[in-house]
Amino acid sequence: MDLRPLDIHDDDLMREAHRIDDAGTQVGREGAPRWTYDEYVAAVRSPDSGERAIHVGAFDDDRMVGVGILYEFLLDNTEKAWFEVVVDPEHRRKGVGSALLDHLVAQAGADGRTTVLTDTKIPFAEVDTHHQRRFLETRGFTQANIEVVRHLDLPLADDAIRKWADHAAEKSGGYRVETFVGHFPDELAESLCVLLGQLAVDAPTGTVDFEEEVMTPERLAERYAMTAAQGRETFETVALTPDNQVAAQTTLQVQADGTDAFQWGTFVHREHRGHRLGLAVKAVNLREVQARHPHVTRVTTQNGETNGYMIDINEQIGFRPVEASVEFVKRA
Ligand SMILES: CC(C)(COP(=O)(O)OP(=O)(O)OC[C@H]1O[C@@H](n2cnc3c(N)ncnc32)[C@H](O)[C@@H]1OP(=O)(O)O)[C@@H](O)C(=O)NCCC(=O)NCCS
Repeated sequence: MDLRPLDIHDDDLMREAHRIDDAGTQVGREGAPRWTYDEYVAAVRSPDSGERAIHVGAFDDDRMVGVGILYEFLLDNTEKAWFEVVVDPEHRRKGVGSALLDHLVAQAGADGRTTVLTDTKIPFAEVDTHHQRRFLETRGFTQANIEVVRHLDLPLADDAIRKWADHAAEKSGGYRVETFVGHFPDELAESLCVLLGQLAVDAPTGTVDFEEEVMTPERLAERYAMTAAQGRETFETVALTPDNQVAAQTTLQVQADGTDAFQWGTFVHREHRGHRLGLAVKAVNLREVQARHPHVTRVTTQNGETNGYMIDINEQIGFRPVEASVEFVKRA
């Protein structure tokens, strides 16, 4: 078995990488959302000026048996790196995962990164015993955080959405709620980026602290371009102050031809909390998604298990827990 850098513009290699990623991350997760090849390769090939990605394949002769990606943040949190390792289910327990992990951790160290992070999805009943935990703990990682993955079935009853929006409106009257689909207006981008950057600071992240992310209009545009290249549509609902500052935001990415929607961040600016703006933007965003994409039947989200405010809103809307996403860290 040997490790080789992967050329992300080689379609044959990317099809193999996607096959392994899909098969390897589905084991024991019946019904979990899957990424199509187009969604996978568009994500891999879309530039993000905020990070560098390093792709490695593990090969047994000429057959790819595992893939690894290392992400190094370039604009903030520059002591950290994030990685993913996935091994073909038919080639496990042969040291492939360890070889990939060791390689990526060494690369991170050589690049001056002292905190290396990853996460893995685990059924609730096996959180303490699952082999993915053992895999990481035997290689010196410790648990940093637990997030709970939740699913919401669509469509929601119009009455229910109206009830949440009305309930939110009792306290959010001073704000204007607007939804933007597929494009976000340039004149609001700077203001939205402030919120997107603070999300990593204010959301509970366990034993690892993140500094504010440098989100720029350029990176926002890159994110929109990636989503479009994936065949997904971005739904951004914001609450605006009378002078057009973004006070709250929530983002959903929706498969234009599929049945899944993915929740990205929801964030209420520190100075505007306590006005039910979180519920206000979420209710409206879901209403807009199901009006435009009636074929979408599920939304997936995940939150830190101690994120009481966000979880209260999600449970009120009807999200139900399905599995844990456990985050691990190793410090040099
Ligand atoms: C976790 C994963 C990468 C392991 O790949 P792998 O090639 O089987 O791992 P290795 O053969 O190098 O195993 C290394 C150690 O992990 C532990 N381990 C791995 N699989 C195990 C299993 N099924 N049961 C018990 N222990 C296991 C063992 O300690 C093992 O050492 P040992 O074989 O000497 O006992 C693989 O299961 C996978 O792709 N999972 C889905 C993606 C994921 O969650 N990745 C982890 C986060 S990045």
